[in-house]
Amino acid sequence: MTDLSVRIGGLTLPNPVMPASGTFAEGLAQAIDLNRLGALVTKTITRELRAGNPLPRVAEVAGGMLNAIGIPSKGVAYFRDVTLPLYRGWSPPLVVSISAPTAEGFAELAAEISLPGVAAIEANISCPNIEEDGRAFAMKPASTAIVVRQLRAATALPLWVKLTPNTGEIAEVAKAAEAEGADALVCANTILAMAIDPHSFKPRLGNLLGGLSGPAIKPIVLRQLYQCARAVRLPIIGCGGIMTALDAVEYLLAGAVAVQIGTATFLDSAAMPNIIDGLDRFCDARGLASVSELTGAIRHEETDEEDLSWLSPPT
Ligand SMILES: Cc1cc2nc3c(=O)[nH]c(=O)nc-3n(C[C@H](O)[C@H](O)[C@H](O)COP(=O)(O)O)c2cc1C
Repeated sequence: MTDLSVRIGGLTLPNPVMPASGTFAEGLAQAIDLNRLGALVTKTITRELRAGNPLPRVAEVAGGMLNAIGIPSKGVAYFRDVTLPLYRGWSPPLVVSISAPTAEGFAELAAEISLPGVAAIEANISCPNIEEDGRAFAMKPASTAIVVRQLRAATALPLWVKLTPNTGEIAEVAKAAEAEGADALVCANTILAMAIDPHSFKPRLGNLLGGLSGPAIKPIVLRQLYQCARAVRLPIIGCGGIMTALDAVEYLLAGAVAVQIGTATFLDSAAMPNIIDGLDRFCDARGLASVSELTGAIRHEETDEEDLSWLSPPT
C-alpha cells in the first residue's frame, strides 16, 4: 500500500490530485465523490461582482481548448455566505483562488477570505484575460514581488502563488515569490493563444485572445516546472495538460509535489479519481512506500560543463 499523502507548506493533503481553478464546481459532486480528492480548489473569486467576457468563451482546438471566461464572480459576500458553508460539507482542504487588478486589492481580498474553513489561498496572479494584452503580475519578478509581499502581510493562511507560462523568466518569477514568503507555487496557468474561424473570418473567442489548456501545453509547462523546481525550494504543484496518471508522474519526476487537473475533467468527469487510482497502481507496481518518492526523481546525468549545443539551430 503506497502512502499517497503529500505535504505542501504547512498543509497535508490525503493525495496529490486536485482540480485546477475554474474547471471544477460543486456540481461535480453529482459525478464523483469529492471526498476522494487531495484538495478542492475554487474558481477564482474577486471582490467585486464581475460579468465575465463576451461569448463565445471557449473553443476546442487541436490538442486542447481555448478559454476566455474573464472571471465572472459573485463577489466575496456570496462566497462567504453561500459557497463556503457548502464546501464545509466535504473533507478535502479548501483552497480559495483569488484575483484582483491591484496588489492592494489582492491583499484586501486575501484578508477578507481568511476565514475558518479556508485551508489555503491560491493567488491567481497569472490570469491572462484579466489585464490588457493578457499582461499579469506574474509576467515579471518585480511585480510578482510587490503583490506577494502584500499578500503575505495580509494573511496567515498558507499562500500558493499561481504562475503564468507566458513569461520568459519563470524561474526568476518563482524566486521572487519565494523570497516574499509564498508557501507553494502552482505551475501554471494557460498559455495566451487565439484561433480564427476561416469560414466566417471571425475570432473563435468573443474576447479575441484566450488561454490554451490541455495536452498541447504539457511539454512546455513541464519544462517550466522543472526550471522552477531547480530554482526554488518551495513545493510546486504541476498544472497543464495532465490527462492521465502517467502525465501526473511526469510532473512529479520533474519536481512537482502534487498536480492540478483542468481540461481532462471536461472530457471525463472521473479523470481525477482515475488519476488517483492510476498513481496508486503506478507506485504499488514499483514498490514505492510513498508517492513523494517520485518528486524530483528524474534520472538525468549532469555534467560539470553545461551542454549548450541544443541552442544552435540544426545544420
Ligand atoms: C474553462 C477554464 C476556466 C479557468 N478558470 C480559471 C480561473 O478562474 N482561475 C485560474 O487560476 N485558472 C483558471 N483556468 C486555468 C486552469 O486552472 C489551469 O491552470 C489550466 O487550464 C491548465 O491546466 P489543464 O491543461 O489541465 O486544463 C481555467 C481553465 C479553463 C479551461
